[in-house]
Amino acid sequence: MSLTPPNADQTPNASLESVLLTEKLYKRPSRPPDYRKETSALARLSKALAESPQTVLGALTDVILELLPSESAGISILAGDRFHWAAISGQWKSYVGGGTPSNFSPCADVLSLNRPLLFGRVEQRYPYYKDANPPVEEALLVPFFIEGKAVGTIWAAAHSESRKFDAEDERLMKSLSAFASLAYQTVLSIEKLQKQVSSGRDSENELRELNSALQNTIESGSRQLEAKNEEILKQATELRELTVNLMETQDLERRRIARELHDSVGQMLALLTMNLSSMQKTAEGTAPDMSAKLRESQKLLADISDEIRTTSYLLHPPLLEEIGLVTAIEIYMEGLRERSGLKIDLDAQRDFGRLADGKELALFRVMQECLTNVHRHSGSDTAKVRLQRHDGQAILEVEDRGKGISLQALDGAKSRGGVGLQGMRERLRHFGGELLVESVPSGTRIRASLPLGETSPEGQ
Ligand SMILES: Nc1ncnc2c1ncn2[C@@H]1O[C@H](COP(=O)(O)OP(=O)(O)OP(=O)(O)O)[C@@H](O)[C@H]1O
Ligand SMILES: [Mg+2]
Repeated sequence: MSLTPPNADQTPNASLESVLLTEKLYKRPSRPPDYRKETSALARLSKALAESPQTVLGALTDVILELLPSESAGISILAGDRFHWAAISGQWKSYVGGGTPSNFSPCADVLSLNRPLLFGRVEQRYPYYKDANPPVEEALLVPFFIEGKAVGTIWAAAHSESRKFDAEDERLMKSLSAFASLAYQTVLSIEKLQKQVSSGRDSENELRELNSALQNTIESGSRQLEAKNEEILKQATELRELTVNLMETQDLERRRIARELHDSVGQMLALLTMNLSSMQKTAEGTAPDMSAKLRESQKLLADISDEIRTTSYLLHPPLLEEIGLVTAIEIYMEGLRERSGLKIDLDAQRDFGRLADGKELALFRVMQECLTNVHRHSGSDTAKVRLQRHDGQAILEVEDRGKGISLQALDGAKSRGGVGLQGMRERLRHFGGELLVESVPSGTRIRASLPLGETSPEGQ
């Protein structure tokens, strides 16, 4: 409850002098000091200050009430434009938290004169006290200081006419004002400390929240990244498996077509040749013209047979399973030499032997692709093929003296995938092997290696 609402009348009803009774303090007969009571009260205050600084101002006003013939006691602290009633004991207890204007109040007068003052009926000068209940008969106000600056007052009020303050009360209040200063400073320091602690706690919390938000972001980011990575890896594996499947299918298909050409078409051509031959023999004596034509047709048919055999053989090395990799390469190279004019050299380890199922075909296809590339792209008219076992690996090298593979072509080959260089890579990887491409402007060397596994040089 405040005595001074915002629209309170702040015009003095009377002069300060007319309401002051300070002189009476010294004229009235003074009661003797009760040091025992005073000391015990001060001791209680010191204990309260040490144990519960937040409530020490209330303890102080209780002590004023106890030591002085007062019926209300309080502590007013200057805060902005008001004197704030920080603690009140006694009959005016319900006014705690209220206050008076900093420029027009008993406290203001005490601070401006900077000494204790005894007031009579305060409402005579300060109109806003007229509603105070009970009204004030006398009020003794004593300033207190922090670092030499008056910051508030402690006060004792008598509401009955019988109660009068004297010089002993002034002495007591002065002694208590020193304690008020100490108590108030303590409260201030504690509030400041609390603010620091709570702002520290706030920043600590903020930091913790920021930290955990950051951590969440990082975690969800890395989870997404991991998921993406997994997806990419999965796709890469799928693509690789698909490529291998495709090549296996391609091999099977080539093999099927090769067999078809060799067995079915080849057999029919053989029959046709036999027919033509007997027809030609018959026609030899009777129809020389027809005989000549038939001989021509026989020749054509032989060419077709050759062509079909070559195609069949290119599509699938027909004897790979039977004669093994080295011989198959030799035969293939012989055919290529004839057809392309490439001077190809084979340097195969004499006891190279046989490789496990599938590996021979893989190396054969790599050799085939490399030599085709040499023929198509390198510009080289020579090539060297090396085949050996080394360190548990089967190694095939194809070298040319051409213009080398451009970086662009290498990149392109990598990104296209599935054919040529990339296809070779996949074939080898399927068996745990790898492809190494060394290329300079004066030539290219491709090195394919496959782990031999359990196979021996002698075979299977
Ligand atoms: N021995 C080589 N010398 C020079 N360039 C080469 C050689 N081998 C490959 N290249 C270059 O590398 C590219 C990629 O070769 P790759 O075998 O992967 O594909 P390709 O031969 O063009 O097509 P594909 O083999 O699918 O029919 C070629 O286009 C060529 O430019
Ligand atoms: Mg190629």
